[in-house]
Amino acid sequence: MKLELKIAHETGELQDAYQLRWTILRKPWQQPKGSEQDELEANSITVVAKARNQIVGTGRVHLATPGVGQIRYMAVADEEQGKGVGKQILCMLEAEINKRGAQKVFLNSRENAVKFYLANGYVLVKEVDKLYGVIRHFLMEKQLHTTLVK
Ligand SMILES: CC(C)(COP(=O)(O)OP(=O)(O)OC[C@H]1O[C@@H](n2cnc3c(N)ncnc32)[C@H](O)[C@@H]1OP(=O)(O)O)[C@@H](O)C(=O)NCCC(=O)NCCS
Repeated sequence: MKLELKIAHETGELQDAYQLRWTILRKPWQQPKGSEQDELEANSITVVAKARNQIVGTGRVHLATPGVGQIRYMAVADEEQGKGVGKQILCMLEAEINKRGAQKVFLNSRENAVKFYLANGYVLVKEVDKLYGVIRHFLMEKQLHTTLVK
């Protein structure tokens, strides 16, 4: 699969990214449309992975505090999971926020994704509140190295 990774700028691309977020992260838990976005979209970087001109994966990062990035909304289409798409998105999010001054990133990982983040250099900090009262959630973080800056 030939993959193109880019920062989503156009409205259509962002809408497709939000749709994928909703399908993968919200719909299975009966969450309404709109719950896949928050007030930080305009100040965030949304990365999309495209194959055959379709968005097959996405993720978002923003500067939570000076020097610290937060990654949210990592979602890869069901049929494309486990093929390295998520790893490439994560690398690009880290590189982009590193360019903007972050030396560290954190995220809240669902239980099913903890091994994915461990495989990508994150450490588990602690368990946090359950999502929707049922999904176990874990605070994880990673130190970024200045060598990421191109
Ligand atoms: C979690 C998710 C973003 C990972 O993306 P992905 O494209 O499936 O993952 P990749 O194929 O890039 O995996 C990269 C690495 O993580 C490992 N990995 C991925 N998912 C894993 C899992 N569930 N258990 C163990 N290892 C896993 C892979 O083996 C791979 O390791 P390697 O590079 O050493 O071979 C994706 O599976 C997804 O969208 N899941 C459903 C939604 C979700 O839970 N999102 C995260 C919310 S916090």
